[in-house]
Amino acid sequence: MNSKLRMFLVLCVVTTVTAVGYKVTLPPSNVGPMFVAPVGNQTAPTGRDAIFTCSIRNIDKYKVGWLRTSDRTILSVHTRTVTHNARISVSYESGSGNSGTTNFVTNQSLEDTNIGTWRLHIRHLKESDRDCYMCQINTSPMRSEEGCLDILVPPDIVYGGETSADLAVSEGDNATLTCRATGRPTPRVSWRREDGEPVLTRSSSSTSSGVANLIRHDTFNGSVLQLHRVERKQMGAYLCIASNDVPPAVSKRVTLAVNFAPAVKVPNQLLGAPLGTDVQLECYVEAFPNTINYWLKHRGEMLLDGPKYNIREDRSGYRVLMWLLIRGFTQEDVGTYNCVSTNSLGKAEGTLRLYEIKIFVDIGRRGNDEIAIYGGSAEAARGSGALQSGLCLRTDFSRRLSFVLWFILQMFRRY
Ligand SMILES: *[C@@H]1O[C@H](CO)[C@@H](O)[C@H](O)[C@H]1NC(C)=O
Ligand SMILES: *[C@@H]1O[C@H](CO)[C@@H](O)[C@H](O)[C@H]1NC(C)=O
Ligand SMILES: *[C@@H]1O[C@H](CO)[C@@H](O)[C@H](O)[C@H]1NC(C)=O
Ligand SMILES: *[C@@H]1O[C@H](CO)[C@@H](O)[C@H](O)[C@H]1NC(C)=O
Repeated sequence: MNSKLRMFLVLCVVTTVTAVGYKVTLPPSNVGPMFVAPVGNQTAPTGRDAIFTCSIRNIDKYKVGWLRTSDRTILSVHTRTVTHNARISVSYESGSGNSGTTNFVTNQSLEDTNIGTWRLHIRHLKESDRDCYMCQINTSPMRSEEGCLDILVPPDIVYGGETSADLAVSEGDNATLTCRATGRPTPRVSWRREDGEPVLTRSSSSTSSGVANLIRHDTFNGSVLQLHRVERKQMGAYLCIASNDVPPAVSKRVTLAVNFAPAVKVPNQLLGAPLGTDVQLECYVEAFPNTINYWLKHRGEMLLDGPKYNIREDRSGYRVLMWLLIRGFTQEDVGTYNCVSTNSLGKAEGTLRLYEIKIFVDIGRRGNDEIAIYGGSAEAARGSGALQSGLCLRTDFSRRLSFVLWFILQMFRRY
């Protein structure tokens, strides 16, 4: 038996004996120690402090102890803290110290002088403090009042197998993102995308039909996010957010990679350009994981960035825009070009054909320097060739416009 408990029992015996002695001399019934108010229940989050108050009238020679109800551990005896738990202490003060409490005894004049208050202080609350606490008077029979303490716990995400780590799947496979959280009350778990895009899901029943539309959720409620037949646009960083109104809410980032072989699209497959101009070729690539991209000329020579070629690419997620700028287009440059993209899952290429647009400058026939373009209906390459002809036409137009303005001004001067 615990020595403290033994001591308390000895105290009980001693004071019970004295109480018996008093019973002889004092009138019975409502005389003797009385609780001024119930101890009351409390709810507090971890880390805070809690104080239970026990106000007693007519304590006389009796002693007051605080006990933890679950295991009957004695925490304090009268004004002495007896537990080894450094977070727990007792304080005593005479008087009720609590103006709003109900008076069990009607004689008001007794109140100020004959009331004692024992407070149980529990600092830096832990989950293990969730229990009931009993304020006990060693009368015979023993009198007690109890208050229970509920500890609220902010949400926490359970790491390890129960919560997904970053994952990678092939396009068309299923992916499951899970997130388990603990806390009191039980946290709500939801998912959203880090980039603010909606979370897209597909109902599992629609897997066979293959035409099921993706459902958009700004936030997806639930700890398990099932993604059936994942599409590339579902790739990204997902945030699992757990909250239970006990701050702070917590989140965990899970990235979903969707792997797929490259696909190449060529917006302009046939490009015509006048000799001497700069010509730009473009390819759009979609692939994940990241690709190695390059350009081939005449199905053989790999082109390198330098004075003749300017090679650039612009990556955004799984999309890549490839550019090849050919400077000073010559007869030599006419032919076939390929943009090639490879990743661990495959290889794809786009084909472009470059041809010459014959131009000649027709000066004098119409009295101004217009450029006539010949070269069929294929669209002109985006390059300085096309730009130059546009500029010339504009120059001619502005010349005519200034002449009209000059003419109008001359007309006004006459008046
Ligand atoms: C105090 O809490 C206990 C345990 O949760 C409960 O049984 C009791 O009814 C509560 N008392 C009051 C006054 O709310
Ligand atoms: C209250 O108690 C005092 C003794 O402290 C006594 O003189 C007085 O008569 C009592 N009043 C009532 C209303 O019981
Ligand atoms: C994906 O999930 C559906 C439904 O649970 C199942 O029928 C299908 O076989 C799964 N596909 C793969 C590739 O695991
Ligand atoms: C998700 O949960 C939040 C908070 O509990 C609620 O307001 C919202 O309506 C829920 N959304 C759906 C789609 O159930």
